[in-house]
Amino acid sequence: MTRAVRKAVFPVAGLGTRFLPATKAMPKEMLPVVDRPLIQHVVDEAREAGIEHFIFVTGRNKGVIEDHFDRQFELEMALLERQKHAALEFMTQDLPIPGSTSFTRQQEPLGLGHAVWCARELIGHEPFALLLPDVLVQHSRGCLAQMLDAAREIDEKANVVAVEEVPHERVDQYGVVGVGAQKGKMFAITQMVEKPPANRAPSNLILTGRYILQPEILDILGTQERGAGGEIQLTDAMIQLSRTQSFYGLKFEGRSFDCGSKIGFLAANVSYALERSDIAPGFRAEIKKILGEPNGG
Ligand code: G1P
Repeated sequence: MTRAVRKAVFPVAGLGTRFLPATKAMPKEMLPVVDRPLIQHVVDEAREAGIEHFIFVTGRNKGVIEDHFDRQFELEMALLERQKHAALEFMTQDLPIPGSTSFTRQQEPLGLGHAVWCARELIGHEPFALLLPDVLVQHSRGCLAQMLDAAREIDEKANVVAVEEVPHERVDQYGVVGVGAQKGKMFAITQMVEKPPANRAPSNLILTGRYILQPEILDILGTQERGAGGEIQLTDAMIQLSRTQSFYGLKFEGRSFDCGSKIGFLAANVSYALERSDIAPGFRAEIKKILGEPNGG
């Protein structure tokens, strides 16, 4: 990686239809995994990787995401008066520093590629990270940090994507990559295709939702035609960019959860709760009770 990656983009304009009615009046990105909203987990991952500027591509009815990353004076005062110092510390410790967040809007739901393009002025002409908040990766070293570590090892201006294996019958739900020569911890990507039928997929390695992209992708997105599902697809723009720039895939360490699906979201809650020393013992006992009493006991 020739230039440091300082900025990260979070597309949060999606409608969240798979979680209705929970997401009727609340953005899906605010659904909690244990006691932190999904978006907070993903912002934490970016911060851990050294990201300094957090760019959110929002939409209508997403105002509370902006509020979440702001001070909440009334609540802070109330906690102070009641001497709830731990809760106060918990609420304020991870606030982004002033001036390190930006919010822009995707006015129409035209796809992931279009959402990224909406952030072009905020990204400027430098490499950037893109994190899809539907996906959580659980590991002691975050997925984006692992990608930046691997990218620094190769001294090259390149694009890097996180990949993982899924069963062949599920590749049609994702972007899928073709595998080339190994380079450091990564491999060269020979092919990319968005949501292919299983018999046309180049492998069962899918794009997980973490990207390090060079700014030239933004010019391509500006002229990108609609692709799969009638949307402006990021994968299509990446295919075009791969004709002039390298793309590498990293099989990251850790377990991913597709929190855009109910089962993935629930599994993330269980797994993250079991990692918390304050919750795990009591929670494990409850799970045992539930599993031991299949008829509701
Ligand atoms: C998007 C990307 C896809 C990627 C997936 C990961 O798809 O287009 O390439 O594999 O995220 O979650 P979406 O989930 O928005 O349909």
